[in-house]
Amino acid sequence: MIPLWTREALEAATGGSLQGNPKPITGASIDTRTLQPGDLFFAIRGDARDGHDFVRDALARGAGAAVVATDRAEEFAGAGGLLAVSGGTDDPVLDAMRALGTASRRRTKAGIVAVTGSVGKTGTKEALRHVLSAQGETHASIASYNNHWGVPLTLARMPATSRYGVFEIGMNHPREIVPLTAMVRPDIALITTVEPVHIEHFASLSAIADAKGEIFSGLSAGGTAIINRDNSSYARLLAHAQASKAGRVVTFGEHPEADVRALRIVMRPDLSVVDAVVMGIPVTYQLGTPGRHTAMNSLGVMAVVHALGADLARAALSLAALKPPVGRGERTALKLTDGEAFLVDESYNANPASVRAALATLSGIETGSRGRRIAVLGDMLELGAAAEEHHRALASAVEDARVDLVFTAGPMMRHLFEALPMSRRGVSAGISTDLVDPLLGALRPGDAIMVKGSNSIRMGRIVEALKARYAGAVDRAESAQAAIRQ
Ligand SMILES: Nc1ncnc2c1ncn2[C@@H]1O[C@H](COP(=O)(O)OP(=O)(O)O)[C@@H](O)[C@H]1O
Ligand SMILES: [Mg+2]
Repeated sequence: MIPLWTREALEAATGGSLQGNPKPITGASIDTRTLQPGDLFFAIRGDARDGHDFVRDALARGAGAAVVATDRAEEFAGAGGLLAVSGGTDDPVLDAMRALGTASRRRTKAGIVAVTGSVGKTGTKEALRHVLSAQGETHASIASYNNHWGVPLTLARMPATSRYGVFEIGMNHPREIVPLTAMVRPDIALITTVEPVHIEHFASLSAIADAKGEIFSGLSAGGTAIINRDNSSYARLLAHAQASKAGRVVTFGEHPEADVRALRIVMRPDLSVVDAVVMGIPVTYQLGTPGRHTAMNSLGVMAVVHALGADLARAALSLAALKPPVGRGERTALKLTDGEAFLVDESYNANPASVRAALATLSGIETGSRGRRIAVLGDMLELGAAAEEHHRALASAVEDARVDLVFTAGPMMRHLFEALPMSRRGVSAGISTDLVDPLLGALRPGDAIMVKGSNSIRMGRIVEALKARYAGAVDRAESAQAAIRQ
């Protein structure tokens, strides 16, 4: 097996020295719970714990070596391979991971894509992984590994043989994207959309657009900036692209001037058909993920495929088999005693844009003859002073989506509940698990149930309970994955 990193490359990149008894390095990890034998374990400092507390465990689980701070190395003498690093900051191990990420970027010959946006980063990144994997070795971020450790970790893990690299980049504050995009140096940078998400840290939507626009600052010279032509922040994003080293700006959307343009989107309950023109080339494709928002994201995917010089027709064929990532639209048939109901798991996070998108998708689902559309909604967090209003304002989206019954969890969603006519009110509870029994009692054959809320409201518990009761045992692997998604 070709090692991911040789001793020479590791030492050159990090300035550290490899001691003890290292094994060939075949991967990289910061978490012993998911560590694979041969991984290089970085003992970085987390919010609650210091990775140095897990070094012995990592080595016992087969880590190829552990990257530790020089002044801690002595503690682990004899435990296995150690790469001791020192530096001026308070986390030299994180610095070493960044340095290895930078070295990885320097050595790669892959076409490098970076994806950011208020919503749709992970879905778009996974769609790109799916499409590009069919055309060449593709390396992409795991889950939502998009922050100050997720991005360098993903870079450090990229095999030298990769042909394509896809990186999710996220932020909660201004200036967070700048150092990340400088490290990734994308050949192609895509902003899915700009929406009021994490607004408590921003003065305005324009401020959010400016923070997303930072991604273009890292573009390699002559690279491609891809932006959403339909978005209200289009002009602002365009200005950022034009101020960068981008050689080309490509737009996508339904707008008549979009370079990658949807002419027609036919939405069916379980898939969509998109009639598009991609840089002048007509392409029609089926999309295995439902919803208008995923169709819009798919235009961004096509723009990337074209910019990479990959095969558009093959990409179009691949998209039909695309499945939504965990908690973002997965469908499960619930087997009730006298028929089936449909569960749409949107339990991964929530903000006004994604809740509206999920309600719109629910509206497109055919219900059975006695069936109803049921929305089960938990609080949306990080909305700052306007939080109450953002929750209440969903009432019109509920109406537009022809939702028959709304269940809510959390004090904020209670404001929506109270804004609804009596006929649409199900049950309003303080915490998500208190909705399980009322929901189980309310379900009828033919119902379509969509569950959504911010991660910490734990709407996923409702999904698990419904699946456990009506769809067989919950897949453990999937629950484990749910635990690490962000
Ligand atoms: N373009 C879009 N507009 C509105 N909602 C979207 C869009 N793309 C994705 N979503 C929804 O936003 C939520 C988060 O999607 P995800 O791909 O995980 O985004 P991110 O990684 O940016 O958080 C999901 O509920 C998804 O269905
Ligand atoms: Mg994400």
